[in-house]
Amino acid sequence: MSSIEETLADSVRARYPLLYLVTWEEKRALDVIRQVGRSVEKEIWLWTVTEGLRRDGRKPPVAAARSGPDTSDPHVVLDEISYEGAERIFVLLDFHPYLNDPRIVRKLRDLAAVLHHRPVSVIFLSPTLKLPTELAKEIEVLDLELPDRQILEGALERLLGGLERRGDIDTRLPASLRTRLIRAAQGLTLVEFENALAKAVVRSGKIAESAVAAVIEEKRQIVRKSGILEYYEPNATLDQVGGLSALKVWLRKRGDALSDEAREFGLPAPRGVLIVGVQGCGKSLTAKGIAAQWGQPLLRLDVGRVFSGTVGSSEENMRLAIRTVESIAPVVLWIDEIEKGFAGTASSNYSDAGTAARVFGTFMTWLQEKEQAVFVVATANDVRRLPPELLRKGRFDETFFVDLPNAAERREIFRIHLRARKRNPDRIGLDALVEASDGFSGAEIEESVIGGLFDAFQARRPLRADDILQNITATAPLSRTMDHEVSALRQWAHGRTRRASDAT
Ligand SMILES: Nc1ncnc2c1ncn2[C@@H]1O[C@H](COP(=O)(O)OP(=O)(O)OP(=O)(O)O)[C@@H](O)[C@H]1O
Ligand SMILES: [Mg+2]
Repeated sequence: MSSIEETLADSVRARYPLLYLVTWEEKRALDVIRQVGRSVEKEIWLWTVTEGLRRDGRKPPVAAARSGPDTSDPHVVLDEISYEGAERIFVLLDFHPYLNDPRIVRKLRDLAAVLHHRPVSVIFLSPTLKLPTELAKEIEVLDLELPDRQILEGALERLLGGLERRGDIDTRLPASLRTRLIRAAQGLTLVEFENALAKAVVRSGKIAESAVAAVIEEKRQIVRKSGILEYYEPNATLDQVGGLSALKVWLRKRGDALSDEAREFGLPAPRGVLIVGVQGCGKSLTAKGIAAQWGQPLLRLDVGRVFSGTVGSSEENMRLAIRTVESIAPVVLWIDEIEKGFAGTASSNYSDAGTAARVFGTFMTWLQEKEQAVFVVATANDVRRLPPELLRKGRFDETFFVDLPNAAERREIFRIHLRARKRNPDRIGLDALVEASDGFSGAEIEESVIGGLFDAFQARRPLRADDILQNITATAPLSRTMDHEVSALRQWAHGRTRRASDAT
């Protein structure tokens, strides 16, 4: 028995009256429910708004032959269920739109009370979860876990069998291709996996290397559709980050420990890092660099969108995001400006502070307990708004503080940005620039290089150190205008965090 079958069977036996199974895979979910029905010896009855209530496996009666109340009405079907006394499981497909109706909500609460004493369970089966608060305690929510290896292999066999019967393509798969296909497919629903394979067959006439690519492309689509996560094409490795050598050394060591070999050696999988610090000093740049360095996909989680309400309920969004990320593991998950997303989860910045706190709680628990190879990089610059729970042990492996670059680091940053613009840093005197840019962030150094290039271009002559120097002198760096904030940040970081640069 799969674990969802067990959970479901236990809940039914324990007489949980109302259950909610969230999944896009209606067909597979129904198979699971039928299995449960057999094991707990209950009849299954299905309801849809188009066909009303009918026993599973029976055809719905034609309209003319129908007797009794019209159960396609959601109110009526709940009334019918409330009279039921026999061993039955009622499965209501796509009932979620009616959960907005206050009369339905009330009926369900009454129903829950009545059914507690009867051998009857109601299972809502929907691709989305939208529970009114009144029902949060009455309804037990279950996720249909994604198909495991065995189920995926079964699907592959079925497809190959079908193709073989048609006889026009080669269906013998090398074992290694089979393994990689199944591994890549982990995290897809059955339907998605079948679609990806079908696409590959249509394109190339066989299941070959391109099928793995099709499966991976299917995953990209899921991320895109989630609306909360974003695939990021990392365009810079850690070599493009100037300074921050302690952080880079730490990251290289973790990168080296991603392998199975490291697990066997007894090392835990790296969990994540929190990078706080001064604006424009390379926090986001580092986050992007990690994924490129490790050759893993980079997913960005937009916490603001989790709460925005434009895509679904925030709780459901967070669950979906977590599931999607895990399905793509191994992966680097980047949460930029985490303090902005989760600010006010304790106070009431959001209209529903309770929901915000729950969503944050879900995320915290996941951070602590996740087993998949998901390395979380979170960045923050406003530490006053950083929920203190984030700093607690067990959430991130380490918290680093990124300060304004020191002289050696500024030199490195100048070199990186000159080289990125096809200038030879050895031919430009950097000493004066390094000295004049004391208090500048990496972003401001980059700006001064760009400003210098503009000036040189306008005069139609090669770039000189002087061009950059003039831009430096004309700039009031943030660290000067926000001197107070920067010192407060340093003070906060002291003792709570590890320095990202080597001490000088
Ligand atoms: N240490 C650095 N080395 C090289 N370039 C840097 C460095 N720091 C900043 N830059 C340049 O400045 C840009 C902005 O930096 P980044 O976005 O990483 O800053 P941040 O620390 O995330 O700032 P914020 O707190 O405002 O988000 C980078 O894309 C890069 O071009
Ligand atoms: Mg940033």
